[in-house]
Amino acid sequence: MAELSLEDLMFKPGLMKGQRILITGGGTGLGKVMAEGAMMLGADVYICGRRGGVVEDAAKELMEAHPASQGGGKCVGIACDIRVPEAIADMVDTVWADGGALTGLVNNAAGNFISRTEDLSSRGFDAIANIVFRGSFFVTQECGKRWLAEGRHASVVSILTTWVWHGGPFTVPSAMSKAGLNVMTQSLAVEWGNRGVRFNAIAPGPFPTEGAWARLNPGAGTASEKKDATIPLNRNGEMRELANLAVYLLDPGSAYVNGQTIAIDGGGHLRGAGGFARLSEWGDEEWAAARASIQSANEKDRAKRTV
Ligand code: HXC
Ligand code: NAP
Repeated sequence: MAELSLEDLMFKPGLMKGQRILITGGGTGLGKVMAEGAMMLGADVYICGRRGGVVEDAAKELMEAHPASQGGGKCVGIACDIRVPEAIADMVDTVWADGGALTGLVNNAAGNFISRTEDLSSRGFDAIANIVFRGSFFVTQECGKRWLAEGRHASVVSILTTWVWHGGPFTVPSAMSKAGLNVMTQSLAVEWGNRGVRFNAIAPGPFPTEGAWARLNPGAGTASEKKDATIPLNRNGEMRELANLAVYLLDPGSAYVNGQTIAIDGGGHLRGAGGFARLSEWGDEEWAAARASIQSANEKDRAKRTV
């Protein structure tokens, strides 16, 4: 379902006309709402994921909700597994051939699940790090090489977590990988900034999505929860709030912002919210139940993959 109307956004219609944005993992959750925000303001948006049907359906749905006659740009779904560098190169070639250089990239695709660190196998660690840490780097590099060679200006926004500042117990491969992207953001902001490519990141607090809740809060609550007493503002984030921040960072209106990671978490990390330290109380039984529930969600999603 499309989420937004123009009233949800802070920006004038047509703001992003002429812009071309790639959003990894843009077929679901936060990636999809950022895609919607940019395309309804006129940008052409490319969304990728391993489940070809999911990205194609999302692209179709967003274009139907925000047709060109109302100022919407186009949205194109591309099946791509960002763990595979050759697949990334093919995708980026396809995007460039479809209308020229990108003006923006959102590194949003991720995998995650809660687990005691001592229970992780090397494949379990790689399942997360190969998407978040390695995959996001290669997508960034593949776009960056083209931007530098062609002398283009571009904005890269990476979606992190507030764990980059205070660690992420029971989500260590994710916390380590996101921290790596935080340092990539700071490093490339300097290395490529003087050639027109700027880097920022967003560290969201809780924004209930099916993908995250099935793997981080298995068996408890639903993706439609609104209240959260651990957050100073007493609630979870709203999708439109994230879309507004992403549009701001992608658009040249924020051109002097470079190398920053911005929390959008109702102030949660300042009071230690947003992590899983409370799971220290769990015993073997709770962990076994969580793992079974997460693996059944993984299985369901895997059945839809086309790459
Ligand atoms: C321990 C686990 C496990 C669990 C999987 N594994 N689940 N280990 N505890 N709960 C292990 C498996 O046993 C296996 O290792 C290895 O991980 C790979 O598992 P597969 O199921 O084969 O992996 P795969 O099909 O590649 O799926 C990748 C995935 C999956 C990352 C595991 O969750 C996925 O596709 N996720 C994409 C969507 C997602 O995660 N969205 C949430 C993002 S939310 P062995 O050794 O047994 O073979 C997010 C929010 C952060 O990041 C902040 C919130 C506040
Ligand atoms: P989500 O809906 O599960 O999104 C993850 C997306 O990544 C999916 O569309 C998935 O599609 C894609 N993906 C995973 N592996 C991929 C791969 N190898 N190649 C290409 N695409 C891949 O979860 P979400 O909650 O929206 O999370 C989006 C981002 O926000 C993530 O970076 C997450 O860490 C971050 N975040 C979320 C929250 C929250 O509260 N929701 C909080 C902090 C940070 P396929 O399965 O089809 O590949």
